[in-house]
Amino acid sequence: MSKNAALVLAAGKGTRMHSEKPKVLQTLLECPMLAYVYQALTPLFGDTVWTVIGAHAEMVRAAFPDKKYVLQEELAGTGDALRCALPALSKFDRILVVNGDAPLIRTDILSSFLDKAGDFDLAFATAELSDPKAYGRVIRREGKVTGIVEAKNYDTETMGPPSGEINVGLYVISYDLALSLVPKIERNALSREFYITDLVALALAAGYRVDGIVLGRDTNLLGVNTPRELSMMEEYKRAQIVDQLIDSGVVMHAPDLVRIGPFVEIEPGAEITGPCEVYGKSRICAGARVSSHCVIRDSVIESNARIHEFSHLDCAHVGRKALVGPYARLRPGAELCEQSHVGNFVELKKARLGFGAKANHLTYLGDAEIGAGTNIGAGTITCNYDGVNKHKTVIGDTAFIGSNTALVAPVTIGEGALIGAGSTITRDVPAGSLAVARGKQKVFAERLRKTVVSMSEPVKSQEDSPKE
Ligand code: UD1
Ligand code: CA
Repeated sequence: MSKNAALVLAAGKGTRMHSEKPKVLQTLLECPMLAYVYQALTPLFGDTVWTVIGAHAEMVRAAFPDKKYVLQEELAGTGDALRCALPALSKFDRILVVNGDAPLIRTDILSSFLDKAGDFDLAFATAELSDPKAYGRVIRREGKVTGIVEAKNYDTETMGPPSGEINVGLYVISYDLALSLVPKIERNALSREFYITDLVALALAAGYRVDGIVLGRDTNLLGVNTPRELSMMEEYKRAQIVDQLIDSGVVMHAPDLVRIGPFVEIEPGAEITGPCEVYGKSRICAGARVSSHCVIRDSVIESNARIHEFSHLDCAHVGRKALVGPYARLRPGAELCEQSHVGNFVELKKARLGFGAKANHLTYLGDAEIGAGTNIGAGTITCNYDGVNKHKTVIGDTAFIGSNTALVAPVTIGEGALIGAGSTITRDVPAGSLAVARGKQKVFAERLRKTVVSMSEPVKSQEDSPKE
């Protein structure tokens, strides 16, 4: 059996994107283009995939540190990119070459192309477009391929109107053919680049078996070169993902406004209302409901949890039947155990809320552990940062933190303890005790009418007892 490797061409700058980022790192649904290409290749090639990088090579490496790379020193075109990769691929019989700027390519398209490519020495995929735009145009004589002419080089006067059959940028090339013919590719006179597409005419002239395999009219085959194409492809992908989820049994309201990344898992029976965004490696379990205007990244939402409107979750874990929001912010390390509640304008960072614990209003819990059944009053703040280091707050089970309490970490509040509203707690509070740490209330017998009161003049006051 022949040994195949895949090669992704990803060294180009992407000049038409007008961006500091290399084109292959431009994102669709918050996921870089290249990740989609790898997603399609992996089931067929595992880690037998090399990527040619050049422009901002270090950025691409950093985004995908586990991949195998070949460096193209001078960006001298796709033919030159293949030349640079040949030494790394010498132990393979055939190479599947794919452009890194084709984010909608899918495993089934690749495998059907590989099947149809059979044992041709060189096969390339073609699509039919009503407008061939800037794509390479496939030239046939009596149905037989004779070459590919790049749009820049296509002269309608001498060559007639283009047929609409374009080169997709997907090739199977035998290693031996590449080894003997890649050095024969000449710099294109117009662009000064070496074109991989010139291999077609060279291979035919040398008597190799060559074919252009028609894959039809399929948006999934197209490349991204401009911001407009990126938006178009992103929208296409968005609709595709949402459609698949609906068909699998996910309930979607306003599905046109729902944006879900390609690596998100949503179980049948989950319910999502648009507009809403779910990205990264998020997972939403059956029976969970996500309301409109939520943005969720890399988070897990267990079954029957409810995320109310306008909540933002980032690397958070929401347990079964927990309630979040509206207007909650769960930052990395927020962990909500089963049946816990986080209400409006509550922010959690590296904080665990125990079973059934509640923080319902206006609260910041950072670097904190909150026991089961504990109630965190409105306006509670864990003061976790002393300007240099972060410190931890630990609160036991069934404690009650009165409203507007500042917990100056490191500090521990024991099980069942009660903190008086408005306290600034700087020392540990033992289990079962009451702590109040605030200025005492003064009540004057008569309302003071003068704007300036002489401090020397004693005023009769009445202090209140620490009733909570
Ligand atoms: C290329 C094809 C064209 C085809 C189209 C499909 C050539 C000469 N033309 O044109 O026939 O219709 O793709 O989308 O191949 N790259 C490198 N090194 C380089 C230049 C490019 O690795 O020196 C990479 C790019 O990062 C990109 C891919 O090769 O991922 C294609 O390059 P691009 O410049 O986008 O080629 P097109 O003009 O789209
Ligand atoms: Ca392209």
